[in-house]
Amino acid sequence: MSNSASAVIPAENTAHVALVIGASSHIGLATMTLLHAQSPDLQIVAISRNSAAVPDAAHITSLESDYSDASLRDIVAQLADCRGRIVRVLICLGVLHNATLRPEKRLEDLQAGQMLEYLRINAVLPALWLSALLPVLAGPLPCSVAVLSARVGSIADNRKGGWYSYRAAKAALNMLLQTSAIEYGRRAPNVTLLAYHPGTVDTPLSAPFHRSVPEGALFTAAHTAQCLLDVMAQPATPGDARFVDYAGETVPW
Ligand SMILES: NC(=O)c1ccc[n+]([C@@H]2O[C@H](COP(=O)([O-])OP(=O)(O)OC[C@H]3O[C@@H](n4cnc5c(N)ncnc54)[C@H](OP(=O)(O)O)[C@@H]3O)[C@@H](O)[C@H]2O)c1
Repeated sequence: MSNSASAVIPAENTAHVALVIGASSHIGLATMTLLHAQSPDLQIVAISRNSAAVPDAAHITSLESDYSDASLRDIVAQLADCRGRIVRVLICLGVLHNATLRPEKRLEDLQAGQMLEYLRINAVLPALWLSALLPVLAGPLPCSVAVLSARVGSIADNRKGGWYSYRAAKAALNMLLQTSAIEYGRRAPNVTLLAYHPGTVDTPLSAPFHRSVPEGALFTAAHTAQCLLDVMAQPATPGDARFVDYAGETVPW
């Protein structure tokens, strides 16, 4: 782990850089493995609340963050030397259930504190990272930023209901992404933004809900990483975020 205020990757190392935020995510970890397999020279900066969950490897610089404003500022300062070299950013932050959060089944389950916590983790924190990173992402190289969203955040696609706060938080995330894409298009037109629906992936996040997943529709994290990197490599239009699923199909907002 490296958490000094100095540069995370020395300036003399001219390799391209990928940032993975929320790097303990099972999808994030699988994506880091595939990024390294595809581009062994790529340097990966892995940011997580729990750096012990990030593999110890020469191509990975692990930074611990509590996602406070001060921590974001500190990390962005450490990334200053990476400006102009960051080609991929993956923001994994999201929660569906934990020790205190349960996705609501009916209106009577709604509680203000729980709703705000879903919004904080799924929407507010990713947006704060997009805000903080703009100065280090602006540059000459095309940079693809993917944020893990979910189809249940699609208002047009909502036919089953339930999961009020998770759905609302992902819908809010999508709006924050499209609004950020418009501003990035003006201020950092090398950067394109993607709201990504990975499908149902075999991770702790989806584990309680696997019984309702149709045969063949539960993806491994490794498969998800492949689909995600394929979509991130597709051409995209600055100033206009995409909402795309694992098959590369557009999801209606
Ligand atoms: N698995 C699925 O089927 C599925 C389907 C659709 C969408 N997604 C989305 O994909 C993303 C990653 O999911 P995953 O399946 O890889 O889940 P996971 O392994 O449980 O990863 C959880 C992620 O959320 C962050 N996180 C969790 N609780 C947090 C908290 N209290 N405060 C701040 N950050 C917190 C973690 O960051 P740290 O590294 O800092 O701990 C990590 O990045 C999520 O946004 C999820 O909504 C997943």
